[in-house]
Parts: sequence; C-alpha cells; structure tokens
Amino acid sequence: MSERVHREIVSFVRRSARMNPSQQRAWERYSPTHVVPVERRGTSTSVAEQPVPDWAAIFGREAPLVVEIGSGTGDSLVPMAAGRAEANVVAFEVFEPAVASTLSKMGREGVDNLRIVVADGAQGLATLFHPGQVSELWTFFADPWHKSRHHKRRLVSPELAATVTRQLAPGALWHLATDWEDYAQWMREVLDPFPGVENVHAAEGGWAPRLAARPLTKYERRGLDVGREIHDLTYRVMPR
Ligand SMILES: C[S@@+](CC[C@H](N)C(=O)[O-])C[C@H]1O[C@@H](n2cnc3c(N)ncnc32)[C@H](O)[C@@H]1O
Repeated sequence: MSERVHREIVSFVRRSARMNPSQQRAWERYSPTHVVPVERRGTSTSVAEQPVPDWAAIFGREAPLVVEIGSGTGDSLVPMAAGRAEANVVAFEVFEPAVASTLSKMGREGVDNLRIVVADGAQGLATLFHPGQVSELWTFFADPWHKSRHHKRRLVSPELAATVTRQLAPGALWHLATDWEDYAQWMREVLDPFPGVENVHAAEGGWAPRLAARPLTKYERRGLDVGREIHDLTYRVMPR
C-alpha cells in the first residue's frame, strides 16, 4: 500500500522480525498449515472486515474455540493447548519470530489442535469469529504500559471487554494473569464494574487462585525473581 496507512493505537511494540535459522526452519515447515492468513487493512498486523474463517474446516473438526491473545513464544500456549485436546485453540501474536518459536515447540510436542494468526488479537477477536462463537479467552502477561500517557495502549480496556461480551459465549471464561501490581489493579478497575462480565472470585476478594493449567513462563519467573506478586483473574461472560 503506497498511501500512508492509518496507525492505530496498539498494545504491542513493533519490532524487526528477523528469525534465527531454527525459527526459519520451523516457520517454513509449519506456517503453511498452522498460521492462518487474514486480510489486512493497512499495517501488517491489522485485520480487515472479512468473512469469518471456517474454523472447523481449518482445524479439520468441529470443536469449542479457545483464543489466546499475545501468545509470545508459546510457553503457556503449547502445553495449555496440549492439555485441552477437546478444543481448537486459536492464538494471536504479532511478532513473527515468537510465532516461529511457538511452531517449533508445537511440532516438537506433537500438538495439533493449535493455529496462529499473526495479527492484533483485539481486532482479530472482534472480526474473525461470530458473536458467541468463542468459548474461552486467555491473556497472560500482556505488556504493562506503565506510563499514564501509554495506558491507552493496554490490551485490557473497556474496548476489549466490550468485544469479549459480544464474541464469547454466555458462561465462557476469560483468564488473565499479570506480574505488575498496577496493571492488575487496572484490570480490576476496568473489568469488575463492566456490564456483561462478572468476576468469578468476587466473593473471595476478587483475585483468582493461580490457574492450575498455566505453566510457569519466563515472564512469570522474571517477575517472581524480583519479588513481584503474580495476580490471576477470571471473569465470566454473563447471559445476554
Ligand atoms: C510479555 S509477552 C507474554 C507472552 C506470553 N503470554 C507468556 O506469558 O509467555 C506479551 C506478548 O503479547 C504480544 N501482544 C501484545 N499485544 C498483542 C495484541 N494486541 N495482539 C497480539 N499479540 C499481542 C506481544 O508481541 C508479546 O509477544
């Protein structure tokens, strides 16, 4: 596109996408089958309005759809997809070398109920599913964007919450985790009062117990190493 493209406010940093040789190999081997192409509307991470993909055809079976936004190198995604053999798992990640590392893990572990979209997951969740089609959402260790002038870049926002209430099925769960106290509080401030979702652990102070299926990733380890507390949260989409 030669015209200047409209740059949206996004929750990630655009980085150069050089892959190492092993990432390159994994990308060449698995991206044709496990990376789902989408139509863009300008930037390489955007998602245009388009027909909803036929997920059952893409996975080769009909199954509940679980979505992760910001899967990084797949440290939680791959084992968590392996632990959910009954689900089709769709992950959004914008950084291609991280996607390649995920594909490599996926191949090594023989996990096949997993597909990746290289795109902004906030736009993807809104656009690439029918309302109510998603049965669970994971957002773990999203970039914290500490400065107040950057808060508008935080993934967890009223806009994403509105998308969640529309695209997740009634009763579906949204699992979140962060190692940043200020982001954890922000998630509570945005989501606790948000119409259409309820904090599953409201009666016990609002924080969720550590999600048993969530493995310890490098982000969590780094946070723990410098003495930060990890906060898990779980919200349920209420009947419409
Ligand atoms: C701090 S890492 C955490 C990765 C992973 N969840 C984990 O716990 O190991 C955050 C990742 O989210 C990705 N990301 C942030 N916002 C995103 C968005 N809107 N859509 C897709 N990926 C996003 C970033 O590129 C980065 O790889």
